[in-house]
Amino acid sequence: MALRNKPLTEQVALVTGGGTGIGRAFAGVLAESRARAVVIASRREDVLRQTADELNARTGAERVYPYAFDIRDLAQTDALVNHVAARFGAVDVLVNNSGLAVAESVEGITEAGWDKVLETNLRGAMWLVRAALPYMLREDFGDVVNVSSQAGKHGYADVPSYCASKFGLLGYAESLRDHARQTGANLRVFNFCPGLIDVDHTGGDEEPRAGAIHVRNMARALLFTLSLDREVILEDINLYAR
Ligand SMILES: NC(=O)c1ccc[n+]([C@@H]2O[C@H](COP(=O)([O-])OP(=O)(O)OC[C@H]3O[C@@H](n4cnc5c(N)ncnc54)[C@H](OP(=O)(O)O)[C@@H]3O)[C@@H](O)[C@H]2O)c1
Repeated sequence: MALRNKPLTEQVALVTGGGTGIGRAFAGVLAESRARAVVIASRREDVLRQTADELNARTGAERVYPYAFDIRDLAQTDALVNHVAARFGAVDVLVNNSGLAVAESVEGITEAGWDKVLETNLRGAMWLVRAALPYMLREDFGDVVNVSSQAGKHGYADVPSYCASKFGLLGYAESLRDHARQTGANLRVFNFCPGLIDVDHTGGDEEPRAGAIHVRNMARALLFTLSLDREVILEDINLYAR
């Protein structure tokens, strides 16, 4: 039996870190593609509000909604997902994009630095999935998109906790995919593993800095990924500058 499908225009997306950078580009392309609702969530309410206003003005419709939360706070994370489901009726696409790095050497790594990075990049993503899964199962439809990194495939001496978190996210994604396989859930799990993405020169006619790619390529790749048939498994999308 074919797995349930839903047009993007009926889907509700939650993009963490959607106020800036890659998350903003994801939110923009989802709104332009007329997703039913795109909730962008992170700590800075003013940044989120401004992005939502700009994207809504660009598309001439109210589709992007800001929500302030701290992914390191598990209660706030649960509240975010429950809010999205209550307000919009579903959580169809969860984009785990919030993330940061703390530059510390292997010898100089601190407990505070490690906790900040792991709780934001890895535990937060896991907790969001944990909260969103019941809604995805209820709808018999869900996509989880994780933003890992090239640093989830290669280790770099100056950001050991970041690499551990991004490698960990890929491992967690494998478990989630295996869970979907075992339970038969209509759940897809995609990982982005980008190299350097220029999130400063984002205008349509701006050139990315040397060694980086324009953020629009992340947005295009997201749309392509989501457009694949439900039966298709696409694991990691590795993209970086030539
Ligand atoms: N740009 C690149 O070259 C590149 C390459 C590979 C992977 N990545 C990954 O791509 C993702 C997006 O990065 P970006 O380059 O677009 O940088 P960015 O603009 O700094 O995005 C990071 C986002 O994470 C949010 N965030 C940080 N701490 C948070 C917290 N405690 N709770 C909730 N949200 C939090 C930030 O919003 P608030 O400050 O408002 O909370 C921000 O919107 C990250 O996971 C990053 O590791 C980036």
